[in-house]
Amino acid sequence: MYDLIRPLLFAMDAESAHDIITGLMASPLGPVVSTLVPMATRSYPALQQELLGRTLPNPVGLAAGLDKHVQLVEMARWLGCGFHEVGAITAQASQGNPKPRLFRLPTDHALINRMGLNNAGAANLKHQLKALPKDFCVGINLSKTPQPHITGPLALQDFGLALKHALGCGSYISLDVSCPNTADGTTFCQPDTLAELLAFLANQQQALLSNHPTQAKPWLVKLSPDLTSDTLAHLVDVAQPYVDKGLMAGWVACNTTRTRDNLTTDAQTVEQLGPGGLSGPPVFDKSLAVVRTLYQLTGGQHLIVGVGGIRDTESAWAYMTHGASLIQLYTGLVYEGPGLVERIKAGLDAKLKQHGLTNIAQAVGLAHRHHQATANL
Ligand SMILES: Cc1cc2nc3c(=O)[nH]c(=O)nc-3n(C[C@H](O)[C@H](O)[C@H](O)COP(=O)(O)O)c2cc1C
Repeated sequence: MYDLIRPLLFAMDAESAHDIITGLMASPLGPVVSTLVPMATRSYPALQQELLGRTLPNPVGLAAGLDKHVQLVEMARWLGCGFHEVGAITAQASQGNPKPRLFRLPTDHALINRMGLNNAGAANLKHQLKALPKDFCVGINLSKTPQPHITGPLALQDFGLALKHALGCGSYISLDVSCPNTADGTTFCQPDTLAELLAFLANQQQALLSNHPTQAKPWLVKLSPDLTSDTLAHLVDVAQPYVDKGLMAGWVACNTTRTRDNLTTDAQTVEQLGPGGLSGPPVFDKSLAVVRTLYQLTGGQHLIVGVGGIRDTESAWAYMTHGASLIQLYTGLVYEGPGLVERIKAGLDAKLKQHGLTNIAQAVGLAHRHHQATANL
């Protein structure tokens, strides 16, 4: 089916195609579409895990950036996702960068985007956040308002304000400190600045929730795939006390890359598209390496959500066996269509059987244990 629709969508510019599909699914026609075109979703008991304080029916979710207006939760359920992430949401509304700002690289099955955190702002989205369902895991992706003058203490307060609006909503908070598309989007991506951010948010949350501590939702920090192993080690050190206190659950690895490696599209075409974050298969190796390093550094004690270039069962399995308990999709959906979620679930279930495993949690980090076993021979 998607093979028929894709040429029509690809005849439009990438952002218009995105807006048409998401606008349709968010409109009153959305439920009609999902009834007329039922996804062949199945339940796979072996894919179920207890994570983030709830039962997730499967490990496949939609990545941040797809649902900036908090209106696609039902679409995620329709696709058969086990969880969903809305945002990025910033304290103040932002129009993002001028259009065009989203481009396809079809021969690489990749995207370049410089959306620049366009969103309605946390105060305006408060009602949607409060109305998030209780029976489905939805993460809220927060970022700093993309205005270069908001730095230092102002940046901390800005991030804090976004968190304040999201307090008690959804199932987890994803702190996006790795947006490559604004001059200041990576303000908190280094160990010293992340330390300041986590300390500020922890104090603020404790003060605001002193009477309702159960309202606190676990944090994940979303990283760039362009960080060195050394920096990752420092980031893990910074995060450890917050993981110990139960404030932070772990990491989302990774965001898009500023690099232009692993592309077959000719360099001139890529150059002409201008700056932006690259996603899809070209980011797969980098992002997987971050997952592998995080798992090694933390001995598998931090939750890792793997994202970047997942387009089939093999790429999803690679993330999980290298340490991700959950995975997310964005660019893969654009190229492979909505059936990708179900194909990956069926593929992971089959992989478990092949390996004689009974639950997906047993596959998490398997590649490290194999490596260790081989080294001990
Ligand atoms: C158009 C677009 C917008 C995005 N917006 C956000 C965002 O607001 N916050 C965020 O943390 N990540 C954002 N991302 C990054 C994705 O969530 C994901 O980390 C990245 O695209 C790599 O996954 P993929 O290769 O499956 O696309 C965006 C990606 C794209 C393509």
